[in-house]
Amino acid sequence: MKITLRLIVSLFLVVAAVTVGFSFYQVDKEKSRMADDLERRTAILADSLRESVTYLANRGLPERLNRLVVRFGNRKRLEGIAVFDSGGNIITVTPELKSGISQPFPEAVKTMLDNSPSAKLKDLNGKETYIYVLPLRAKGKITGAMALFDDASYIDARLKEIWKSNLLRLLIYTVLIVFITLVVVRWSITGPIARMAQWMREVRTGKDKSGQLAHFPRGDILSSLINEAAHMAKSLTAARAKAEEEAKLRFNAASLWTANRLKEHMKAELGGKKLFLVSNREPYMHTKNGHGVKCIIPAGGLVTALDPVMRICDGLWLAHGSGDADRETVDAHDKVLVPPEEPAYTLKRVWLSKDEEKGYYYGFSNEGIWPLCHITHTRPVFRLEDWVYYQKVNEKFAEALLEEIKDEECPLILIQDYHLALLPMLIKEKRPDTRVALFWHIPWPNPEAFGICPWQQEILMGILGADLVGFHIQFHCNNFLDAVDRFLESKTDWEQFSVTRGGHTTLVKSFPISVSFENFPDKESAIKGNNSLRGQLFKEKGIHAKHLGVGVDRIDYTKGIPERFRAVERFLEKHPEFVGKFSFVELGAPSRTHIKKYHDLMAEVEETVESVNWRFQTKEWKPILFLKAHHTHEEINRFYKTADVCMVTSLHDGMNLVAKEFVAARDDEDGVLVLSQFAGASRELTDALIINPYDIEEMADTIYRALTMKPGEKSERMARMRQVVRENNIYRWAGDLIMALARLRPSSCGE
Ligand code: G6P
Repeated sequence: MKITLRLIVSLFLVVAAVTVGFSFYQVDKEKSRMADDLERRTAILADSLRESVTYLANRGLPERLNRLVVRFGNRKRLEGIAVFDSGGNIITVTPELKSGISQPFPEAVKTMLDNSPSAKLKDLNGKETYIYVLPLRAKGKITGAMALFDDASYIDARLKEIWKSNLLRLLIYTVLIVFITLVVVRWSITGPIARMAQWMREVRTGKDKSGQLAHFPRGDILSSLINEAAHMAKSLTAARAKAEEEAKLRFNAASLWTANRLKEHMKAELGGKKLFLVSNREPYMHTKNGHGVKCIIPAGGLVTALDPVMRICDGLWLAHGSGDADRETVDAHDKVLVPPEEPAYTLKRVWLSKDEEKGYYYGFSNEGIWPLCHITHTRPVFRLEDWVYYQKVNEKFAEALLEEIKDEECPLILIQDYHLALLPMLIKEKRPDTRVALFWHIPWPNPEAFGICPWQQEILMGILGADLVGFHIQFHCNNFLDAVDRFLESKTDWEQFSVTRGGHTTLVKSFPISVSFENFPDKESAIKGNNSLRGQLFKEKGIHAKHLGVGVDRIDYTKGIPERFRAVERFLEKHPEFVGKFSFVELGAPSRTHIKKYHDLMAEVEETVESVNWRFQTKEWKPILFLKAHHTHEEINRFYKTADVCMVTSLHDGMNLVAKEFVAARDDEDGVLVLSQFAGASRELTDALIINPYDIEEMADTIYRALTMKPGEKSERMARMRQVVRENNIYRWAGDLIMALARLRPSSCGE
């Protein structure tokens, strides 16, 4: 109400000021117009009378003069006429005026002295009167004067009328302004706010079971506020659903998820059926090594997380055979049992031509979707030929998978990541009885960012072929649902987090991925073990330092590697006491090097290392050791176990399993994790030192804080983070995902 009142008062003052100003102007104009008119009329009459009056006065014909004066003296608005002699005394006058004129009449005397006509407004007998006096001449001499008296009171009356009508207009304006202001304010501001408050109350208290955008209040000028509130409400609903689910889970399963528990669980859920996993990247890659062949585990979170799951599920993993010795190691059906040292499941390889790999993998997947989903200011590139290959290769994966599942009834299929967005729809079209989950390992951007993809609808439709779509965090689920809302004709349910389109429903849920977590109950022996490991490692790698930092990454522009090195440089600048005492080891696996951005990044990383080292290194010591290679898990683990600080500085990351691997490795409860706020892992590992990787100064200070942290605080933080990873390990992730999928029963499969 206060605002409305203020609005009304302000509008009234403005209108009043304009009306009054305008009235002054109008009155002034009207007054001078009327005065001019009066003067002109009077002067004309005076001129026309002058000759006759002069003649009669000079000839001494007072009666005729009198008659003339009386005749003209009662014309419209003319009050009267007076004729004066050369002394200013009255010769004759209209009788009604006689009493109001003094003798000698000063205006007549003045006119004769000036020898020119004069005009004046004067109060005569209580009336505003216009007096026009002109001299009378005979034979070149002034013989007297004649005065015309006009009624000028009508000018004032007219001016008062103008004021009155303008004030009346102001009154009408005021009423209209008050009315319109009240209507507009109620309609566009207070109404929508009240409806929004009501809606939010319902969402908060859970009364509005729909909680959907369909019921959401609309309002033009408040639309941005309303959209923000909608986002908050969605997050609130999501958080509530999650909390309820977690409470249920805690109630149902108090014990930890382990490999064995998952195994038992899988038996019960799958009823002896196989699990089918599809990804672009294979878990084991055979490469030529001199005359022999070696098997490597590719770097990246996807393989790290899923290999332990497949080891206990005895399923089939379908992936691109990208190793140069892959064809030599498969059987006639393109299959090989893995892991090589202890076969547990089947890897089936799909072969791609160079052109297919270029268009589908390097092009559309990694130059298009990857930068599209990661907000790192790297422009996505979308080429039509890449898109064509992307579709073709997704079809190729579909064919291979359909062949594998042809004898399976209602198989469970887990599709991985952005390379295979079209696969869920391709499978469902041919085999509606399958239960398909797609897990998206990278972030999902907001609809504005996603909207730049030229094939946004095709991608969304491909993904929505799945029964279940998983992301690491709820925020990415919300972004995905927002994109579906924005770009597809479908029904989005924000309570259940699902999308229904063409009779098919897709559940969208967050499943924070993790690592396996081995328990070493004996902390003391872990401390001893790690200490001796440190000695060995330092000797082996020629590290001469008291403190060790470690970073483990694929060399990717999303990881913030140059930023991290600049922070190390700044730290040494700010704390020279650590020069010669702190070394940072970067275990960097080259990745996607055929892409120019990655190629350039490698050069930038190497240059940064060189410049920092050149600046600070001594004969014995280097601030940064860049070990550019594919490292085995065992090798990486040795660094995790001995580092004082592990730095994860991603500019944007779906989850980042390096953070969780480091925590899982620290059975001595030592070491500090420095973690980017833009990595999904920062939502769970809140005991890490959280940084903004764009803020070099803050990162440098955080390295100092990590290296000088008290042992008590370090082990408390690490113990809490270990508890989080222990509870939310990869077995739990797989258990939750598979359980959610297995419980979605397509009608053709029955109960
Ligand atoms: C990320 C992606 C994975 C991918 C991995 C390694 O973690 O989400 O799908 O496998 O990077 O990348 P690469 O291109 O080598 O498979």
